[in-house]
Amino acid sequence: MRTPYYESTIHRQIREKRENRKDRIKGDLMRYGSDVLKSEEIKQAFEQTHHQWSTVGEHTVRVAFSSVMICYALRKLNIKVSIPAVVVGALCHDLGILGRSEKFSSAKECSREHPKESVEVAREIVSDMPEGTEDIIERHMWPAGESEAPNSIEGVVVSVADKYSAVKDIVKGSEVKNTGVKNYLRGEKQKIADKIK
Ligand SMILES: [Fe+2]
Ligand SMILES: [Fe+2]
Repeated sequence: MRTPYYESTIHRQIREKRENRKDRIKGDLMRYGSDVLKSEEIKQAFEQTHHQWSTVGEHTVRVAFSSVMICYALRKLNIKVSIPAVVVGALCHDLGILGRSEKFSSAKECSREHPKESVEVAREIVSDMPEGTEDIIERHMWPAGESEAPNSIEGVVVSVADKYSAVKDIVKGSEVKNTGVKNYLRGEKQKIADKIK
């Protein structure tokens, strides 16, 4: 059996490793995504709901974090990947959703058209667009809807991170709903118990 001291040392090492990786990701996001992070659009993104319980901004940051983490893993496997293109692509991929209700007449139209709109937003706010970024953004919906498949490893990274984050958003949303149902049922049970008394 491990001693408490040994366990705490291991836990500390894991925590420090995680914190170092988080700082490294934050550093890459600030370094390559500063135009986006300073923009009015990213501020607005935190005001708009997305995937039921999240916001476009929160989802965007999650996709960017996961994308960069995948890049580190790929580099460990000696697979070349452009982190600047991944950062800008991930941070801009859904900015075309902003003002969704005024821009699009249906959820289907929003799903089909927002990647092109996101490219337009990226062109406006990013001064020096890394090579391949526009394709990453335009094809990020793959394999959903009618999107073309990514044409680069960076595009695959952002598409996968996007789906992973979307699924997490939706599952967490259903967990929240379930908790609500449980609380409601608990309340109803209590009312019935009070009546019986
Ligand atoms: Fe999207
Ligand atoms: Fe997304």
